[in-house]
Amino acid sequence: MAGGKQLLLLAAFLPLIRCQQTPTVSMLPDLKQVFPGDLLFLTCSGSSTGEVTWYLNDKVLKSKDKTLKIAAAEPKDSGSYSCEINGKRSANLSLTVLEYAPSASLTIKTGHPVMRTQMSVILKLENDEGLKGWVCRVKRNEVIKKIKLKVNDNPVSLSFQPKQLNVMETVFWCFNEMGESRSNQVIIRTSDKRVSMEMYPLPAVAGESLTLKCLVWGTNKISQSVFYKGNSVFETVQGSESHKIQTMTESEVGSYKCEATYKYVDQTVSNSHTDTSDTQDVPVYASPVRAELSDNMGCSCSRCDSSMLFRYYKKTEDSWKMLDSNESLDSSGTYRCRAVMHNMRTLPSRSVTKSSFSSVLTISVVVILIILVVCGILIWLYRKRRGSEPLYEDVRQKRHGDNKEPEYDTIQLEAAGGRERKGGEYEALKKEDMKEGEYHTVGVEGASGGDGGYQELKKGQKEEVYHTVGDHVAAGPDGGYEALKREKCRSKIMKP
Ligand SMILES: *[C@@H]1O[C@H](CO)[C@@H](O)[C@H](O)[C@H]1NC(C)=O
Ligand SMILES: *[C@@H]1O[C@H](CO)[C@@H](O)[C@H](O)[C@H]1NC(C)=O
Repeated sequence: MAGGKQLLLLAAFLPLIRCQQTPTVSMLPDLKQVFPGDLLFLTCSGSSTGEVTWYLNDKVLKSKDKTLKIAAAEPKDSGSYSCEINGKRSANLSLTVLEYAPSASLTIKTGHPVMRTQMSVILKLENDEGLKGWVCRVKRNEVIKKIKLKVNDNPVSLSFQPKQLNVMETVFWCFNEMGESRSNQVIIRTSDKRVSMEMYPLPAVAGESLTLKCLVWGTNKISQSVFYKGNSVFETVQGSESHKIQTMTESEVGSYKCEATYKYVDQTVSNSHTDTSDTQDVPVYASPVRAELSDNMGCSCSRCDSSMLFRYYKKTEDSWKMLDSNESLDSSGTYRCRAVMHNMRTLPSRSVTKSSFSSVLTISVVVILIILVVCGILIWLYRKRRGSEPLYEDVRQKRHGDNKEPEYDTIQLEAAGGRERKGGEYEALKKEDMKEGEYHTVGVEGASGGDGGYQELKKGQKEEVYHTVGDHVAAGPDGGYEALKREKCRSKIMKP
């Protein structure tokens, strides 16, 4: 009986005791190593009431929330974190944000950083040392689950499709259960708006570019995209072109959205629709260390630890293949390098293209051929406009004098035939290196005579060059490139 009373007493005081508990700081997800760009949440738990004061190295932080969000970690976020509620201060949680990138890369193979709810993405995991023993984690709201990968042998690359996206923000990352290596995080957000704004890479890297693109689910017939920072327009582009912020700095941090004017794929009425995307915050973080590659293929890294080794990569059709240490860099191709340690590495260097003698020869031949064709067209146009008249007169006079009518006819036919044949040659060549649409334009312009044909050709070439540059520079510090490359696939998938 007495024991029961004691228990009752204890039960009455239990809530009071709990209130007096010292709070604790916990980190979600609980990563062993924190790399630049990681998304983290620090939570002050213990007492449920009262205002929270956050400290970093004993300095008071602005946030008064129970949960402190680090949207894109960077080395300057390192330090001792503690929180205080009702005068009770927690123990320190020590956070170290490394200066390098993780050794494995996780990218979006199919899909985008912003998807619609219930859709899913395909992710691609790559690790130079192979993926044996690797698993992934997925964080949906507060819940973290494991994703088992079916790994046979020890592949360096693997694609997998996680379950549908059912929360606002889903975070993926992978790690080696037997070692310390891990990948970067991939964050997929959902939006039920018809228009979504995609940013590559997100979070943005200080000093590097950020590409913004306005996409509309179900159609690629976009006539105009307007980009907003806060509530003011900062760029309007025609069609579905993207907008690139060349250099991200602290002043570019903010909330962005876009507005697209579009039509549905099989829409027959002429009026367009205009919709706005959700607003997205763009955090910026300091770039991890990057290796440098010189024109004569020397890899270096001034900020790196001296124990790091250099690794070279050669561009293949859809990825970068690591070269064995005994493989030479002599063959023609595009190369880049990184400095590596057992569980981290630098960002890749810029890429350097090396052309062998045979490819120089091929390029020269192609250039000469193009010059010849252009000269041919110009001469033909010139003759057509000016030269043909007198020539025809001459011939006719001569033939008239000789009075040989059939021969005159033959010559005229031959001349006409020659002209056509030249046109035919030109078409065949153009078809090879121009898109269907551009080719038609060139044909029409050429037929109208004058310098029009030449001008149009120049325009077409410029267009090609622009597209190439766009894709290339959009390559993020590590992963952005893949996502953007999938652009073409996406528009196919989206068509109902
Ligand atoms: C927490 O870290 C700060 C800064 O390093 C230090 O001044 C303080 O004494 C630490 N607090 C505890 C309880 O260890
Ligand atoms: C490089 O050396 C490895 C063994 O260390 C060998 O298996 C591989 O075939 C070599 N590669 C070349 C291109 O010689």
